[in-house]
Amino acid sequence: MPASSARAPRATIRPAAGKLGVLTPGLGAVATTFIAGVESIRRGLAKPIGSLSQMATIRLGKRTDKRSPRIREFVPLASLDDLVFGGWDPIPDDAYTAATKSGVLEERDLTPVADFLKGITPMPAVFDSKYVTRLTNTTNVKKGKNKRDLAEQLRQDIRDFKSQSGVDRVVMVWCASTEAYIKPGAAHATLKDFERAMEENHEEIAPSMLYAWASLMEGVPFANGAPNLTVDTPALLALANERGVPVSGKDFKTGQTWMKTVISPGLKARMLGLAGWYSTNILGNRDGEVLDDPASFKTKEESKLSVLHTILQPEMYPELYDKFSHVVRINYYPPRGDNKEGWDNIDIFGWMGYPMQIKVNFLCRDSILAAPIVLDLALFSDFAMRAGMKGIQEWLSFYYKSPMAAPGLTPEHDLFIQQTKLKNTLRHLMGEEQITHLGLEYYA
Ligand SMILES: NC(=O)c1ccc[n+]([C@@H]2O[C@H](COP(=O)([O-])OP(=O)(O)OC[C@H]3O[C@@H](n4cnc5c(N)ncnc54)[C@H](O)[C@@H]3O)[C@@H](O)[C@H]2O)c1
Repeated sequence: MPASSARAPRATIRPAAGKLGVLTPGLGAVATTFIAGVESIRRGLAKPIGSLSQMATIRLGKRTDKRSPRIREFVPLASLDDLVFGGWDPIPDDAYTAATKSGVLEERDLTPVADFLKGITPMPAVFDSKYVTRLTNTTNVKKGKNKRDLAEQLRQDIRDFKSQSGVDRVVMVWCASTEAYIKPGAAHATLKDFERAMEENHEEIAPSMLYAWASLMEGVPFANGAPNLTVDTPALLALANERGVPVSGKDFKTGQTWMKTVISPGLKARMLGLAGWYSTNILGNRDGEVLDDPASFKTKEESKLSVLHTILQPEMYPELYDKFSHVVRINYYPPRGDNKEGWDNIDIFGWMGYPMQIKVNFLCRDSILAAPIVLDLALFSDFAMRAGMKGIQEWLSFYYKSPMAAPGLTPEHDLFIQQTKLKNTLRHLMGEEQITHLGLEYYA
């Protein structure tokens, strides 16, 4: 294949000039681990481990060309030195107090950046305990005459943050609690329906949707780290397209689901069958406490369950994957704090139907895995905006358990296809040749 055939002209990309504001609804374990980490990296105290944008390389051209720059050298991303942080939380703790309470980072890592973290205090949140039931000390909450009024206050917060901090651009990454399960309904059908529903305080309009609406109205890209419906509705997707703003979601792919999207493509690649996959977790942080509520767990469960079916395609391979049993449990167990332990028991079968088992025992640290994802999503969402991308950013599926996709399109869950899609999108935008891995040119 001639090298030029898969090459698009380079997109017009506005430079990453000036500062980039990163606003997080939620200043809990994930958000504070992310902020503390970025500040530690800026001070030379840590390395950005787990971040593709900072550490991964990208091959350009032929293998023999030996051109593999780091992604951050290839693509004009905002520099870590240019990031400015802000957020909202119904709990009034500053970022240092919140980080200390969440127990992810040790004192030896928090003390050197304590002053910086103490300077980040949450703006009053749009919060309603009907959607997240297990939180206490929620005193830092906005009042308004209806949901629309509350959303307008969020818009004002974004504008004030911009002018007070002197940032040129802003992105929003949802790092707040998982809300109760909501199905897309009449209130989310069109933008008009959505705005009327906000004015009428419709119960299908959850707080996260108000943040997403405010974000899009202000031209701020929105990334959704939780499984809530949030921006994944026809109304808000229409708004994103109309305003030319990139969105992505849902639910950071960090521990057990990440493992699932590594192992299950391997089983399918070898045409090995699956009889069942049982996953259980113990988790003792605030997220675990919120997920102990059945309504919030239902949102998470839906997000976790969709993965295997989409990857294994039982409709195409009924002899291998028809009717496999898939069970996911999360148990709130306080002594473990943020250090989740997950067990997976995978019942597979091979040649002549003989059964085998795989056991995975993953002792992971949830927020340590999530923090670099927040960083990459902030940087790539800002990059997408500057490159003129709008609406759903499917190339960011890599980061999500439940990736958003165009209506009628099956989401892509396979981690390795997601990685190829991400890198090829960067090559495409930068006017570089797509890498197909065909490789026949080396043997001509
Ligand atoms: N850590 C992971 O590996 C991981 C993976 C996937 C998804 N997530 C999701 O990321 C989110 C954050 O996780 P965490 O461990 O930091 O939880 P956390 O409980 O430590 O922090 C969440 C914060 O959000 C705040 N909050 C709740 N409702 C809010 C609202 N309406 N507006 C603003 N703030 C609000 C809470 O007060 C809390 O401080 C959760 O939804 C979680 O399910 C985490």
